[in-house]
Amino acid sequence: MRIGILNSGGDCPGLNAVIHGVVSAASNLGWDVIGFRDGFEGLLPPGDYMLLEPARTIGIMKLGGTILGTTNKGHFVAKVGAGNVAEVPQEIVDKAKTTLRHLEIGALIVVGGDGSLTTALQLYRQGVPSIGVPKTIDNDLQATAMTFGFDSAYATVVDALDRLHTTAESHKRVIVLEVMGRNAGWIALYGGMAGGADVILLPEIPFRMDVIANYINQRDAQGHHSTLVVVAEGAKLESGELVTKEKVGNKGEDRLGGIGERVAAEIEKMTGKETRACTLGHLQRGGAPTALDRILGLRFGVKAVDLIKDGKFGRMVSYQQYHVGDVPIEDAVMKLRTVAKDSEIVAAARSVGTCFGDVQ
Ligand code: F6P
Repeated sequence: MRIGILNSGGDCPGLNAVIHGVVSAASNLGWDVIGFRDGFEGLLPPGDYMLLEPARTIGIMKLGGTILGTTNKGHFVAKVGAGNVAEVPQEIVDKAKTTLRHLEIGALIVVGGDGSLTTALQLYRQGVPSIGVPKTIDNDLQATAMTFGFDSAYATVVDALDRLHTTAESHKRVIVLEVMGRNAGWIALYGGMAGGADVILLPEIPFRMDVIANYINQRDAQGHHSTLVVVAEGAKLESGELVTKEKVGNKGEDRLGGIGERVAAEIEKMTGKETRACTLGHLQRGGAPTALDRILGLRFGVKAVDLIKDGKFGRMVSYQQYHVGDVPIEDAVMKLRTVAKDSEIVAAARSVGTCFGDVQ
């Protein structure tokens, strides 16, 4: 048997651990693994790929990025069609199927977030035996309690906040740290809580600038002259505006970014306190994965091969209650998993004095 693997969308710490898990488990069964380069693009005829022999993946688990390369643009960007369903154009899907047939690939593992898994589902529905592996630092996929990459991403936020605390305190400043996460606030919430942020602004909880300014003034009056604010890139301004760096129209998702600067400027205007903004950006995606993400990635890779062995196609590997199992890919891509405003974790943060900028 020969199987294929590709990763698609933004890179994510732990991708190489998945590849190592897949290659090791497949080699135990006497299977060959073909790794497609640069995401789905590697499926375009004549195919851009490499044979992943076990010796090739030894030691890669601790490396950030992906040895296969990836892309989140290109020919496989889904477009919303007449039926309002985002799909990759049929002629592109047909080309991918030709390559898979030509290389005699018996099953394809797609490691990706919601967009890439939607494409995996499209391929599966058209007869390609596909398995999904959930990947995204945003942790926003339904049907899995956690995606690999998230732990590494928010660890970077915590490290940044630890550093920002000392400079903010020394200068009695407010510092606003903008973090990734797209339309989900998980990175901001976990990173902010663990890093001791005073204010956390999420896409899921609309905030008001006057509430934030009052909170900062109150802290000042109590003798806390510095304040750390974490803002998720997908948090909306009071007007409801999503701040973007680039609108890409139907060529993919808009690039978010810039809300940190906007919030910082408002805070300085409303409180009179010296305020700085800092954007963490791709530091959250780069570098070595944490121990947790290495193990999660490895287990996900091994499980993907198990699913192929059992003929369970159209399924996605899923982490639930300390167990790696599987769910239909549909369950993961139907809607995003976001932070619930009334969840226990938000309540816990409020209990220790975190301000979410809302009126309760
Ligand atoms: O989805 C992962 C993610 O890192 C988001 O948090 C972020 O908005 C986006 O990708 C950045 O994408 P790019 O690498 O294309 O700038």
